[in-house]
Amino acid sequence: MVSIGDYYSFIPCAPGVSDKSAKVFVAGHRGLVGSAIVEKLKQHGFTNLILRSHAELDLTRQADVEAFFASEKPEFVIVAAAKVGGIHANNTYPADFIGINLQIQTNIIDSAYRNGTKKLLFLGSSCIYPKFAPQPIPEDALLTGTLEPTNEWYAIAKIAGIKMCQAYRIQYKWDAISGMPTNLYGPNDNFHPENSHVLPALMRRFHEAKVKGLKEVVVWGTGSPLREFLHVDDLADAVVFMMEKYSGLEHLNVGSGKEVTIKELAELVKEVVGFEGDLIWDTTKPDGTPRKLMDSSKLAGLGWTPKISLKDGLVDTYKWYSENVKQ
Ligand SMILES: NC(=O)c1ccc[n+]([C@@H]2O[C@H](COP(=O)([O-])OP(=O)(O)OC[C@H]3O[C@@H](n4cnc5c(N)ncnc54)[C@H](OP(=O)(O)O)[C@@H]3O)[C@@H](O)[C@H]2O)c1
Repeated sequence: MVSIGDYYSFIPCAPGVSDKSAKVFVAGHRGLVGSAIVEKLKQHGFTNLILRSHAELDLTRQADVEAFFASEKPEFVIVAAAKVGGIHANNTYPADFIGINLQIQTNIIDSAYRNGTKKLLFLGSSCIYPKFAPQPIPEDALLTGTLEPTNEWYAIAKIAGIKMCQAYRIQYKWDAISGMPTNLYGPNDNFHPENSHVLPALMRRFHEAKVKGLKEVVVWGTGSPLREFLHVDDLADAVVFMMEKYSGLEHLNVGSGKEVTIKELAELVKEVVGFEGDLIWDTTKPDGTPRKLMDSSKLAGLGWTPKISLKDGLVDTYKWYSENVKQ
């Protein structure tokens, strides 16, 4: 059995992305995560970003991805393109969630390796972990139990992405790494009325209630489940940090390490939005998993910590929402 530490020695001087004129391809640059990474790279002085919209380059099309890499030959690649969605979408379109994600990541990872990319970072999410993983969830909980069935199609694709990075590292001594972020929020999030995550959904509901002058907003459950949130700009900061500083077989969790109850979150969103009516809890409705927190101590041990408080992050997100989301 080879230990994880043994693989570090395969790439003794693994390159970090320190040259600001290096060609960096950010796949999925128009999404929540990709757009924040692009901004962060610009803030860090990167001048040679290669960006393609979905319409310009469909990443599920192997021949097109191969041609793109053969002509552009990016030195560094960040994979923030994915087919993402909630429980309903996963249940309705399981073939898309497993198939499209496997295609996107396989095409990018293989083409990047074959065209001389020096380093690649693949992004997944906390849904890779078993439904009953220990809390906080450490990286080595991966593949120790049954997945949450509602998103297993997506999770299996993401696990395959981690494993593909590991396999290419082992077989080709190629510097592919993976980061698994916790729940993210921020500008460019999805605020769709039926198909958004809890934080943007709450923001939209309080905002609409404020605009319509409603007296109350009813939220499902008791508000007791504990959740972790990370502002997407912090995630982008962690991505740049990992590209510069981390080279290893093991994927790294990226979280804030701070838990809030859904009730605390809802009250904070209500305050930030400025809704002055009542917040009512419909306790006849289900609560969901009682606690979900990532153990991000490995990344912290390398020297990275988040900087944006939940309150500040919500203020920033609500500003973006007010200016950008059509009511
Ligand atoms: N949001 C979260 O809370 C969260 C948490 C943890 C991890 N993550 C991870 O972060 C990554 C990005 O998520 P996100 O929230 O930024 O999703 P997003 O906002 O939906 O962005 C995904 C991007 O990928 C692009 N894309 C999808 N299919 C494509 C294709 N076939 N060809 C080219 N581009 C394609 C999308 O373009 P179109 O919109 O034009 O299709 C979009 O710009 C995912 O791997 C996700 O697992 C997200």
